[in-house]
Amino acid sequence: MNEFIRIKGVSKLFGDFVAVDNVSLDIAKGELFSILGGSGCGKTTLLRMLAGFEVPSSGAIEIDGVDVTHQAPYDRPVNMMFQSYALFPHMNVATNIGYGLRKEGTAKPEIARRVDEMLELVQLSDFKNRKPDQLSGGQRQRVALARALIKRPKVLLLDEPLAALDKKLRERTQFELMNIQHELGITFVVVTHDQEEAMTLSSRIVVMNKGKFEQIGTPKEIYEFPVNRFVADFIGTINTFEGIVTVVNDDSIEVYSDQIGETLSALGRQLVEVGQQVQIAVRPEKIFLSRDKPDNDEDICIEGVVDDLGYLGNRSLYRVRVKSGRIVQVSSQNRRRSVTRFLEWDDKVWISWRPRSAVVLLD
Ligand SMILES: Nc1ncnc2c1ncn2[C@@H]1O[C@H](COP(=O)(O)OP(=O)(O)OP(=O)(O)O)[C@@H](O)[C@H]1O
Ligand SMILES: [Mg+2]
Repeated sequence: MNEFIRIKGVSKLFGDFVAVDNVSLDIAKGELFSILGGSGCGKTTLLRMLAGFEVPSSGAIEIDGVDVTHQAPYDRPVNMMFQSYALFPHMNVATNIGYGLRKEGTAKPEIARRVDEMLELVQLSDFKNRKPDQLSGGQRQRVALARALIKRPKVLLLDEPLAALDKKLRERTQFELMNIQHELGITFVVVTHDQEEAMTLSSRIVVMNKGKFEQIGTPKEIYEFPVNRFVADFIGTINTFEGIVTVVNDDSIEVYSDQIGETLSALGRQLVEVGQQVQIAVRPEKIFLSRDKPDNDEDICIEGVVDDLGYLGNRSLYRVRVKSGRIVQVSSQNRRRSVTRFLEWDDKVWISWRPRSAVVLLD
């Protein structure tokens, strides 16, 4: 990887409170990298250190080969769009966007040219003379983005850029953001606490918890191979079954789970020993439903009863109670010929999944 931003063992303390706890991370040029985590886990603090508004208590930050740890914000090739961005209410759209260049003393014709370029990029050319209070939330968002982009930073830091938007507009703006990023090739670091947003937008994600990094990876890696219970629970829905390892093979393990009254096999990626307590985790969409026992020795098959079901248009969610009493969540695409179309409350069903659909979690 060609490391463009390097975060090397960075911590930030406020008094004796550790807001960011010895984290390291490399981000490549042109990535759209997301920092994902719950409220108060240190996302904004980390971003502010990248921007230069906070100085790390220890560790170092490099951008484009330069140690910027102690550099002032305006010396860095970075711009930040704040969590609660504010447009100047008395200025129109074009004047808001050109603000940074005017402050730098750029020549007027050059400012006009670049403002027009930005207006086109964020598709607001027809709105250039409006004041912020004459715009929708999504349009204001795009003005803020244009204002941050006009100085052509090498890195744009965005703190919850879409949080103020409703769901529909947020989804649309996500794609616009991706297009703009792709067009300009600028490295984006985006903070969000919305896991779906991070999954849609990002080339890679870091999941943060209490100032530490739990996992860094592509959306797919993080979703398919969460390294621990926190990440598995944070990203999407997952069933976890606690159990004891009974057999360790070359590439798989067997785990007896009394929560479910069954031996579950799983592809073991981690080193585990017989007798060790682990969790087997399976996503709801990896589980199949059938009325008859599946005729397949390798799959995990468990009998149960439909305890609850919910129709969500393109898919349905089922809560299946297995004989141990444990509820297992299953999500199924609604296809026309699918057996699940006719399932009702209290129906007997078999749930089944492939051993390779299960992940072993150690903590
Ligand atoms: N200047 C400060 N002085 C003292 N504590 C601070 C300061 N700034 C942040 N903190 C604390 O550090 C922790 C991390 O704050 P931060 O703003 O980075 O969280 P966040 O992940 O961005 O949360 P949110 O999703 O709510 O925006 C919080 O517990 C916060 O109270
Ligand atoms: Mg924040």
